[in-house]
Amino acid sequence: MRALGYRVVDLLVDHYSRLAEKPVGTKGDPAVLRPLFKSAPPREPRPADQILALLTRDVFPNTLHITHPRFFAFVPGPSNFVSVMADALASGFNVFNGSWLGGSAAAALELAVIDWFREWCGFPEAVGGLFVSGGSMANLAALAAARHVKLNDRTQDAVIYYSDQTHSSIDRALRVIGFLPEQIRRVRSDAAFRLSADALARAIAADRDGGLRPFAVIANAGTTNTGAVDPLREIAAICREQDLWMHVDGAYGAAAVISERGRKELAGIELADSLSFDPHKWLFQPIECGCVLLRDASLLKATYRIMPEYLADVHRNAVEVNPCDYGIQLTRGFRALKVWMSIQYFGMDAFRAAVERGFELAEFAESKLRTMPEWEVVTPAQMGIVSFRRRGADEKFYPALHDAMLRDGFALATSTVLNGRTALRLCTINPRTTEDDIERTLERLSSLSSTL
Ligand SMILES: Cc1ncc(COP(=O)(O)O)c(C=O)c1O
Repeated sequence: MRALGYRVVDLLVDHYSRLAEKPVGTKGDPAVLRPLFKSAPPREPRPADQILALLTRDVFPNTLHITHPRFFAFVPGPSNFVSVMADALASGFNVFNGSWLGGSAAAALELAVIDWFREWCGFPEAVGGLFVSGGSMANLAALAAARHVKLNDRTQDAVIYYSDQTHSSIDRALRVIGFLPEQIRRVRSDAAFRLSADALARAIAADRDGGLRPFAVIANAGTTNTGAVDPLREIAAICREQDLWMHVDGAYGAAAVISERGRKELAGIELADSLSFDPHKWLFQPIECGCVLLRDASLLKATYRIMPEYLADVHRNAVEVNPCDYGIQLTRGFRALKVWMSIQYFGMDAFRAAVERGFELAEFAESKLRTMPEWEVVTPAQMGIVSFRRRGADEKFYPALHDAMLRDGFALATSTVLNGRTALRLCTINPRTTEDDIERTLERLSSLSSTL
């Protein structure tokens, strides 16, 4: 075990220390990769070195390195090595974080970390929540609670509202919990890709007039496309007045509240009835690490708690918190440990500075783009994201550029569609990214573009 462990740590250290020199990753060909791994499980043991050699040759290089300093695509995963060790410990001790009986210290530590999140967001004391695998599960967990609390699980004629910039995990969560497309109002966003409070109020009034039952609004605390933050205070005021549940999808942006910039941008986040908050994005944790917070944590319990006879020993004492009562998983890992351990190790000042850097790098990228006549900024840097287009390029240009970036391996950006037209975006939340990385990436994009 020691020998294997040392080899594994060496592999990880080599990977981390040489990451900036490596290609940003590879997308393997299914015709090659599928047959490569398609073999029967061996009957006899194999030496660990052989297995690690195989992984090193075939598996790890054939992925995208979302922790790479020039990975600007989608939402990067700028993980940290202390949390990697925390994951090893959580897994090594095989901590059961489903009940107080099974993992009392784990439950207590999770509650303490969630209380940090609560305080950072400016929520009152009653707010609580649960670690989940990521933003999609956090959105699902929160929306099922909203349905339970506001509709008593009866969805007929109920309607929910959010901007056309909202993440697809919301659509999926609503599909899972039984909403039909006609119960969803994707309100057209304003010129800054934000949900307009006026348009929202009008949509709610029209539905009430039509005899429907508006029950919830989803506001974005940093959209995936452009980093746009919906007007949280105005939306909260509408929700209060109309007795609607306000869910804030902060999977991308909420962690930025730890910085001064983020706190200003996200003012009003503390008014949410529920919030998705993803440490595996802008809080530098390895995947999987998401979190759902509820204004009244007991509503999670009201939604999820079921007491079978075989868990009677688990439910004996009311002051013992059983995480399984607050969400979908019974057997669950100790996700809070990685957040706790990395914050203990680096300290909050380092985390704050790392988040601030995400804002600054996007601004740096924007200022560079503005000096390059071949590129046009579409949305300015906000919440660590800048989007831009190639002047004069047609729609075929972007997939060709994406493929060229993948072949080249130096850096990766991905595209999205804004107002019906494709645009590139850089998401710059990796604090290990340098200004030089950004400059050379933009130059590389220009040189690759001229070859297309
Ligand atoms: C705004 C937003 N919400 C939800 C999600 C889904 O999160 P996850 O991929 O962790 O399930 C994402 C992912 O990028 C996101 O950006």
